[in-house]
Amino acid sequence: MTISTLDSIFQTIFNKAPEKSFFAPGRINLIGEHTDYNGGHVFPCAITYGTYAVAKRRDDQLVRFYSVNFPDKGVIEFTLEQLEYNKDHNWANYPKGMLRYISEAGYQIPTGFECVIEGNIPNGAGLSSSASIELLTGVLVAGLFGLEIPRLDLIKIGKQVENQFIGVNSGIMDQFAIGMGKKDAGILLDCQTLKYEYAPIQLENHKIIIMNTNKRRELADSKYNERRGECEEALKQLQQKLPIEALGQLSEAEFDENQFLITNEIVRKRAKHAVYENIRTLRALEELKAGNLETFGQLINQSHISLRDDYEVTGIELDSLVEAAWKQPGVLGARMTGAGFGGCAIAIVENEQVESFIANVGAAYADKIGYDADFYVASIGDGAKEL
Ligand code: GLA
Repeated sequence: MTISTLDSIFQTIFNKAPEKSFFAPGRINLIGEHTDYNGGHVFPCAITYGTYAVAKRRDDQLVRFYSVNFPDKGVIEFTLEQLEYNKDHNWANYPKGMLRYISEAGYQIPTGFECVIEGNIPNGAGLSSSASIELLTGVLVAGLFGLEIPRLDLIKIGKQVENQFIGVNSGIMDQFAIGMGKKDAGILLDCQTLKYEYAPIQLENHKIIIMNTNKRRELADSKYNERRGECEEALKQLQQKLPIEALGQLSEAEFDENQFLITNEIVRKRAKHAVYENIRTLRALEELKAGNLETFGQLINQSHISLRDDYEVTGIELDSLVEAAWKQPGVLGARMTGAGFGGCAIAIVENEQVESFIANVGAAYADKIGYDADFYVASIGDGAKEL
Protein backbone atom coordinates (compact mmCIF):
# COMPACT_ATOMS: atom_id res chain seq x y z
CA MET A 1 0.00 0.00 0.00
CA THR A 2 1.32 3.44 -0.82
CA ILE A 3 1.28 6.51 1.39
CA SER A 4 -1.23 8.17 -0.93
CA THR A 5 -3.63 5.26 -0.37
CA LEU A 6 -3.14 5.64 3.38
CA ASP A 7 -3.78 9.38 2.99
CA SER A 8 -7.11 8.69 1.34
CA ILE A 9 -8.08 6.14 3.99
CA PHE A 10 -7.27 8.81 6.59
CA GLN A 11 -9.45 11.26 4.67
CA THR A 12 -12.33 8.78 4.63
CA ILE A 13 -12.09 7.83 8.31
CA PHE A 14 -11.34 11.24 9.83
CA ASN A 15 -12.72 13.60 7.19
CA LYS A 16 -9.54 15.62 6.78
CA ALA A 17 -6.07 15.26 5.32
CA PRO A 18 -3.10 13.99 7.36
CA GLU A 19 -0.05 16.20 7.94
CA LYS A 20 2.85 13.79 8.09
CA SER A 21 3.82 10.21 7.37
CA PHE A 22 6.18 7.81 9.10
CA PHE A 23 7.67 4.34 8.70
CA ALA A 24 9.20 1.79 11.04
CA PRO A 25 10.63 -1.53 9.80
CA GLY A 26 10.44 -5.06 11.12
CA ARG A 27 13.62 -6.96 11.83
CA ILE A 28 15.35 -10.26 11.32
CA ASN A 29 18.18 -11.47 13.49
CA LEU A 30 21.05 -13.05 11.57
CA ILE A 31 22.58 -14.65 14.65
CA GLY A 32 22.72 -14.13 18.42
CA GLU A 33 19.41 -15.50 19.66
CA HIS A 34 18.24 -15.30 23.26
CA THR A 35 21.48 -13.56 24.10
CA ASP A 36 20.20 -9.99 24.51
CA TYR A 37 18.71 -10.43 27.98
CA ASN A 38 21.81 -12.41 28.93
CA GLY A 39 24.13 -9.47 28.36
CA GLY A 40 25.49 -10.98 25.15
CA HIS A 41 25.71 -9.88 21.53
CA VAL A 42 23.11 -9.90 18.78
CA PHE A 43 23.44 -9.29 15.05
CA PRO A 44 20.07 -8.18 13.64
CA CYS A 45 19.09 -5.96 10.75
CA ALA A 46 16.02 -3.93 9.87
CA ILE A 47 14.04 -5.14 6.85
CA THR A 48 12.04 -3.20 4.30
CA TYR A 49 8.77 -4.75 5.47
CA GLY A 50 7.31 -2.59 8.20
CA THR A 51 4.57 -0.35 9.49
CA TYR A 52 3.39 2.95 8.01
CA ALA A 53 1.48 5.75 9.69
CA VAL A 54 -0.10 9.01 8.59
CA ALA A 55 -1.24 11.44 11.25
CA LYS A 56 -2.56 14.89 12.06
CA ARG A 57 -2.55 16.89 15.29
CA ARG A 58 -5.83 17.82 17.00
CA ASP A 59 -6.68 20.85 19.11
CA ASP A 60 -7.75 18.83 22.14
CA GLN A 61 -6.39 15.88 24.14
CA LEU A 62 -8.09 13.12 22.15
CA VAL A 63 -6.02 10.41 20.46
CA ARG A 64 -7.68 8.34 17.75
CA PHE A 65 -6.10 5.33 16.05
CA TYR A 66 -7.28 3.25 13.14
CA SER A 67 -5.44 0.24 11.71
CA VAL A 68 -6.01 -0.94 8.16
CA ASN A 69 -4.93 -4.38 9.40
CA PHE A 70 -7.64 -4.55 12.06
CA PRO A 71 -10.66 -2.85 10.49
CA ASP A 72 -13.06 -4.73 12.77
CA LYS A 73 -11.55 -2.94 15.77
CA GLY A 74 -12.64 0.37 14.25
CA VAL A 75 -11.32 3.68 15.56
CA ILE A 76 -9.76 3.25 19.01
CA GLU A 77 -10.00 6.40 21.13
CA PHE A 78 -8.61 7.63 24.42
CA THR A 79 -7.31 10.89 25.80
CA LEU A 80 -3.79 11.82 26.85
CA GLU A 81 -5.03 11.69 30.46
CA GLN A 82 -6.14 8.06 30.07
CA LEU A 83 -2.96 6.23 29.24
CA GLU A 84 -3.67 3.02 31.17
CA TYR A 85 -3.50 -0.45 29.63
CA ASN A 86 -6.96 -1.43 28.42
CA LYS A 87 -7.60 -4.90 27.08
CA ASP A 88 -10.38 -3.60 24.83
CA HIS A 89 -7.95 -1.28 23.11
CA ASN A 90 -6.22 -4.30 21.65
CA TRP A 91 -3.29 -3.46 19.34
CA ALA A 92 -3.51 0.24 20.28
CA ASN A 93 -2.02 -0.60 23.67
CA TYR A 94 1.41 -0.52 21.99
CA PRO A 95 1.18 3.10 20.83
CA LYS A 96 -0.65 3.99 24.03
CA GLY A 97 2.18 2.60 26.16
CA MET A 98 4.64 4.66 24.11
CA LEU A 99 2.63 7.85 24.69
CA ARG A 100 2.52 7.13 28.38
CA TYR A 101 6.22 6.49 28.87
CA ILE A 102 7.29 9.29 26.54
CA SER A 103 5.25 11.67 28.75
CA GLU A 104 6.62 10.10 31.92
CA ALA A 105 10.14 10.61 30.60
CA GLY A 106 9.39 14.33 30.71
CA TYR A 107 8.47 15.09 27.10
CA GLN A 108 5.37 17.17 26.76
CA ILE A 109 2.86 15.89 24.23
CA PRO A 110 0.82 19.09 23.81
CA THR A 111 -2.28 17.74 22.03
CA GLY A 112 -3.89 14.58 20.81
CA PHE A 113 -3.89 13.45 17.18
CA GLU A 114 -5.49 11.16 14.65
CA CYS A 115 -3.54 8.37 13.08
CA VAL A 116 -4.01 5.62 10.49
CA ILE A 117 -1.58 2.70 10.57
CA GLU A 118 -0.93 -0.06 8.10
CA GLY A 119 1.68 -2.78 8.32
CA ASN A 120 2.96 -5.37 5.85
CA ILE A 121 4.90 -7.43 8.39
CA PRO A 122 3.09 -10.74 8.77
CA ASN A 123 1.40 -10.43 12.16
CA GLY A 124 2.60 -12.85 14.84
CA ALA A 125 5.46 -14.06 12.63
CA GLY A 126 8.23 -13.07 15.01
CA LEU A 127 9.51 -10.24 12.82
CA SER A 128 8.79 -7.73 15.58
CA SER A 129 5.61 -6.14 14.38
CA SER A 130 5.07 -4.93 17.95
CA ALA A 131 8.46 -3.22 18.27
CA SER A 132 7.79 -1.74 14.84
CA ILE A 133 4.58 -0.10 16.10
CA GLU A 134 6.40 1.10 19.21
CA LEU A 135 9.19 2.84 17.31
CA LEU A 136 6.70 4.10 14.73
CA THR A 137 4.78 5.81 17.53
CA GLY A 138 8.04 7.20 18.86
CA VAL A 139 9.09 8.87 15.59
CA LEU A 140 5.50 9.95 15.00
CA VAL A 141 5.17 11.78 18.31
CA ALA A 142 8.62 13.33 17.91
CA GLY A 143 7.88 14.36 14.31
CA LEU A 144 4.35 15.68 14.85
CA PHE A 145 5.23 17.80 17.88
CA GLY A 146 8.85 18.68 17.12
CA LEU A 147 10.16 16.86 20.21
CA GLU A 148 13.84 16.04 20.23
CA ILE A 149 13.93 12.61 21.77
CA PRO A 150 17.29 10.87 21.47
CA ARG A 151 16.93 7.68 19.46
CA LEU A 152 18.33 5.53 22.24
CA ASP A 153 15.65 6.89 24.58
CA LEU A 154 12.91 5.89 22.15
CA ILE A 155 14.46 2.43 21.93
CA LYS A 156 14.52 2.08 25.72
CA ILE A 157 10.97 3.39 26.00
CA GLY A 158 9.88 0.77 23.45
CA LYS A 159 11.42 -1.95 25.59
CA GLN A 160 9.76 -0.47 28.66
CA VAL A 161 6.37 -0.72 26.91
CA GLU A 162 7.00 -4.38 26.13
CA ASN A 163 8.21 -5.19 29.67
CA GLN A 164 5.92 -3.07 31.85
CA PHE A 165 2.86 -2.24 29.76
CA ILE A 166 2.40 -5.46 27.80
CA GLY A 167 4.18 -7.82 30.22
CA VAL A 168 6.71 -9.58 28.00
CA ASN A 169 10.13 -9.64 29.61
CA SER A 170 11.98 -9.16 26.30
CA GLY A 171 15.46 -7.77 25.77
CA ILE A 172 16.47 -4.73 23.76
CA MET A 173 17.33 -6.31 20.41
CA ASP A 174 14.10 -5.68 18.51
CA GLN A 175 13.68 -2.03 19.43
CA PHE A 176 17.38 -1.39 18.84
CA ALA A 177 17.38 -2.99 15.38
CA ILE A 178 14.25 -1.11 14.39
CA GLY A 179 15.43 2.17 15.84
CA MET A 180 18.97 2.03 14.48
CA GLY A 181 18.66 -0.04 11.28
CA LYS A 182 20.66 0.99 8.23
CA LYS A 183 20.24 -0.08 4.63
CA ASP A 184 22.32 -3.12 3.72
CA ALA A 185 23.94 -3.32 7.16
CA GLY A 186 23.68 -5.61 10.15
CA ILE A 187 24.11 -4.19 13.64
CA LEU A 188 26.42 -5.96 16.05
CA LEU A 189 25.12 -4.88 19.44
CA ASP A 190 26.65 -5.59 22.81
CA CYS A 191 23.49 -5.77 24.90
CA GLN A 192 25.37 -5.25 28.17
CA THR A 193 27.04 -1.94 27.24
CA LEU A 194 24.84 -0.98 24.24
CA LYS A 195 27.98 -0.38 22.20
CA TYR A 196 27.31 -1.23 18.58
CA GLU A 197 28.83 -1.30 15.13
CA TYR A 198 27.37 -1.55 11.65
CA ALA A 199 28.67 -4.31 9.39
CA PRO A 200 27.88 -4.36 5.68
CA ILE A 201 25.97 -7.51 4.74
CA GLN A 202 27.81 -8.59 1.65
CA LEU A 203 26.54 -12.00 0.66
CA GLU A 204 27.93 -11.96 -2.88
CA ASN A 205 25.48 -13.88 -5.03
CA HIS A 206 23.12 -14.84 -2.20
CA LYS A 207 19.80 -13.62 -0.89
CA ILE A 208 18.28 -13.84 2.56
CA ILE A 209 15.00 -15.71 2.41
CA ILE A 210 12.47 -15.33 5.22
CA MET A 211 10.45 -18.50 5.77
CA ASN A 212 7.26 -18.11 7.77
CA THR A 213 6.00 -21.26 9.50
CA ASN A 214 2.55 -19.64 9.71
CA LYS A 215 2.41 -21.08 13.17
CA ARG A 216 1.46 -18.24 15.42
CA ARG A 217 3.67 -17.76 18.41
CA GLU A 218 1.02 -18.82 20.85
CA LEU A 219 2.23 -19.42 24.39
CA ALA A 220 5.40 -17.76 23.21
CA ASP A 221 5.29 -15.07 25.85
CA SER A 222 5.01 -17.39 28.82
CA LYS A 223 7.67 -19.74 27.44
CA TYR A 224 9.87 -16.74 26.72
CA ASN A 225 9.60 -15.54 30.31
CA GLU A 226 10.30 -19.10 31.48
CA ARG A 227 13.58 -19.27 29.50
CA ARG A 228 14.56 -15.94 30.90
CA GLY A 229 13.94 -17.22 34.41
CA GLU A 230 16.07 -20.31 33.76
CA CYS A 231 18.98 -18.14 32.63
CA GLU A 232 18.66 -16.01 35.76
CA GLU A 233 18.78 -19.14 37.90
CA ALA A 234 21.91 -20.34 36.09
CA LEU A 235 23.56 -16.96 36.56
CA LYS A 236 22.83 -16.96 40.30
CA GLN A 237 24.43 -20.35 40.74
CA LEU A 238 27.50 -19.40 38.70
CA GLN A 239 27.84 -16.22 40.73
CA GLN A 240 28.56 -18.33 43.83
CA LYS A 241 32.04 -18.57 42.43
CA LEU A 242 32.37 -16.23 39.46
CA PRO A 243 32.32 -12.42 39.70
CA ILE A 244 30.05 -11.98 36.66
CA GLU A 245 26.97 -9.89 36.04
CA ALA A 246 25.70 -11.71 32.96
CA LEU A 247 26.14 -15.03 31.13
CA GLY A 248 27.41 -13.06 28.15
CA GLN A 249 30.64 -12.33 30.02
CA LEU A 250 31.77 -15.96 29.96
CA SER A 251 33.99 -17.70 27.44
CA GLU A 252 33.14 -21.23 26.41
CA ALA A 253 36.04 -22.59 28.48
CA GLU A 254 35.01 -20.63 31.58
CA PHE A 255 31.51 -22.00 31.23
CA ASP A 256 32.70 -25.56 30.75
CA GLU A 257 34.89 -25.39 33.85
CA ASN A 258 32.17 -23.96 36.04
CA GLN A 259 29.01 -25.51 34.72
CA PHE A 260 28.97 -28.00 37.59
CA LEU A 261 27.75 -25.11 39.77
CA ILE A 262 24.44 -25.29 37.94
CA THR A 263 22.53 -28.05 39.66
CA ASN A 264 19.65 -28.56 37.25
CA GLU A 265 20.55 -30.21 33.98
CA ILE A 266 17.95 -28.35 31.93
CA VAL A 267 19.01 -25.00 33.35
CA ARG A 268 22.62 -25.92 32.53
CA LYS A 269 21.68 -26.51 28.88
CA ARG A 270 19.92 -23.15 28.68
CA ALA A 271 22.98 -21.37 30.04
CA LYS A 272 25.26 -23.26 27.69
CA HIS A 273 23.25 -21.97 24.76
CA ALA A 274 23.42 -18.39 26.01
CA VAL A 275 27.21 -18.53 26.43
CA TYR A 276 28.04 -20.44 23.24
CA GLU A 277 25.62 -18.45 21.10
CA ASN A 278 27.20 -15.20 22.23
CA ILE A 279 30.69 -16.37 21.24
CA ARG A 280 29.28 -17.75 17.99
CA THR A 281 27.81 -14.35 17.17
CA LEU A 282 31.17 -12.59 17.57
CA ARG A 283 32.81 -15.27 15.48
CA ALA A 284 30.14 -14.98 12.79
CA LEU A 285 30.80 -11.26 12.43
CA GLU A 286 34.53 -11.89 12.01
CA GLU A 287 33.89 -14.52 9.35
CA LEU A 288 31.50 -12.26 7.51
CA LYS A 289 33.98 -9.40 7.57
CA ALA A 290 36.69 -11.72 6.24
CA GLY A 291 34.37 -12.83 3.44
CA ASN A 292 34.27 -16.42 4.71
CA LEU A 293 30.64 -16.94 3.83
CA GLU A 294 30.73 -20.71 4.20
CA THR A 295 31.90 -20.54 7.80
CA PHE A 296 29.42 -17.76 8.46
CA GLY A 297 26.68 -20.08 7.20
CA GLN A 298 27.88 -22.99 9.34
CA LEU A 299 27.72 -20.82 12.44
CA ILE A 300 24.15 -19.95 11.52
CA ASN A 301 23.35 -23.66 11.31
CA GLN A 302 25.00 -24.32 14.68
CA SER A 303 22.90 -21.56 16.17
CA HIS A 304 19.74 -23.37 15.11
CA ILE A 305 20.98 -26.68 16.48
CA SER A 306 21.74 -25.08 19.83
CA LEU A 307 18.31 -23.40 19.91
CA ARG A 308 16.72 -26.73 19.04
CA ASP A 309 18.62 -29.02 21.41
CA ASP A 310 19.82 -26.88 24.32
CA TYR A 311 17.47 -23.93 24.45
CA GLU A 312 14.47 -25.87 23.10
CA VAL A 313 12.60 -23.00 21.49
CA THR A 314 12.20 -24.33 17.94
CA GLY A 315 9.40 -26.89 17.62
CA ILE A 316 8.45 -29.12 14.73
CA GLU A 317 7.42 -26.32 12.36
CA LEU A 318 10.66 -24.35 12.55
CA ASP A 319 12.76 -27.52 12.56
CA SER A 320 10.99 -28.89 9.48
CA LEU A 321 11.58 -25.67 7.55
CA VAL A 322 15.20 -25.33 8.57
CA GLU A 323 16.07 -28.98 8.11
CA ALA A 324 14.49 -28.96 4.64
CA ALA A 325 16.45 -25.79 3.85
CA TRP A 326 19.75 -27.39 4.87
CA LYS A 327 19.22 -30.12 2.24
CA GLN A 328 18.85 -27.72 -0.68
CA PRO A 329 21.69 -26.86 -3.06
CA GLY A 330 23.17 -23.39 -2.80
CA VAL A 331 22.21 -22.86 0.85
CA LEU A 332 24.90 -21.29 3.03
CA GLY A 333 22.95 -21.61 6.25
CA ALA A 334 19.50 -21.55 7.80
CA ARG A 335 18.10 -21.00 11.28
CA MET A 336 15.09 -19.80 13.20
CA THR A 337 15.04 -16.07 13.90
CA GLY A 338 13.49 -14.17 16.81
CA ALA A 339 11.99 -15.72 19.91
CA GLY A 340 11.09 -19.08 18.32
CA PHE A 341 8.11 -21.34 19.16
CA GLY A 342 6.82 -20.76 15.63
CA GLY A 343 7.29 -17.56 13.69
CA CYS A 344 10.00 -17.27 11.06
CA ALA A 345 13.29 -18.79 10.01
CA ILE A 346 15.84 -17.39 7.59
CA ALA A 347 18.03 -19.04 4.96
CA ILE A 348 20.89 -17.65 2.91
CA VAL A 349 20.41 -18.96 -0.59
CA GLU A 350 22.31 -18.61 -3.86
CA ASN A 351 20.44 -16.32 -6.29
CA GLU A 352 19.91 -18.93 -9.01
CA GLN A 353 18.59 -21.47 -6.51
CA VAL A 354 15.99 -19.27 -4.86
CA GLU A 355 13.10 -20.41 -7.00
CA SER A 356 13.71 -24.13 -6.62
CA PHE A 357 14.58 -23.60 -2.94
CA ILE A 358 11.16 -22.10 -2.29
CA ALA A 359 9.40 -24.82 -4.27
CA ASN A 360 11.25 -27.68 -2.57
CA VAL A 361 11.21 -26.41 0.99
CA GLY A 362 7.58 -25.33 0.56
CA ALA A 363 6.56 -28.80 -0.64
CA ALA A 364 8.49 -30.62 2.09
CA TYR A 365 6.93 -28.37 4.73
CA ALA A 366 3.36 -28.69 3.50
CA ASP A 367 3.82 -32.44 3.24
CA LYS A 368 4.99 -32.78 6.82
CA ILE A 369 3.02 -30.07 8.62
CA GLY A 370 -0.19 -30.10 6.60
CA TYR A 371 -0.36 -26.41 5.71
CA ASP A 372 1.80 -23.99 3.73
CA ALA A 373 4.77 -21.90 4.75
CA ASP A 374 5.29 -18.46 3.18
CA PHE A 375 8.53 -17.21 1.70
CA TYR A 376 9.80 -13.66 1.25
CA VAL A 377 13.05 -12.29 -0.10
CA ALA A 378 14.42 -9.97 2.58
CA SER A 379 15.91 -6.58 1.79
CA ILE A 380 17.81 -4.83 4.54
CA GLY A 381 16.52 -1.31 5.05
CA ASP A 382 16.66 1.76 7.26
CA GLY A 383 15.37 2.22 10.79
CA ALA A 384 12.28 4.14 11.90
CA LYS A 385 11.88 7.54 10.27
CA GLU A 386 9.61 10.32 9.11
CA LEU A 387 8.94 10.01 5.39
C1 GLA B 1 12.32 -11.71 21.00
C2 GLA B 1 12.66 -10.61 22.01
C3 GLA B 1 14.11 -10.17 21.87
C4 GLA B 1 15.06 -11.37 21.89
C5 GLA B 1 14.58 -12.47 20.94
C6 GLA B 1 15.39 -13.73 21.08
O1 GLA B 1 12.38 -11.20 19.71
O2 GLA B 1 11.81 -9.51 21.84
O3 GLA B 1 14.43 -9.24 22.89
O4 GLA B 1 15.22 -11.85 23.19
O5 GLA B 1 13.22 -12.79 21.15
O6 GLA B 1 16.70 -13.52 20.68
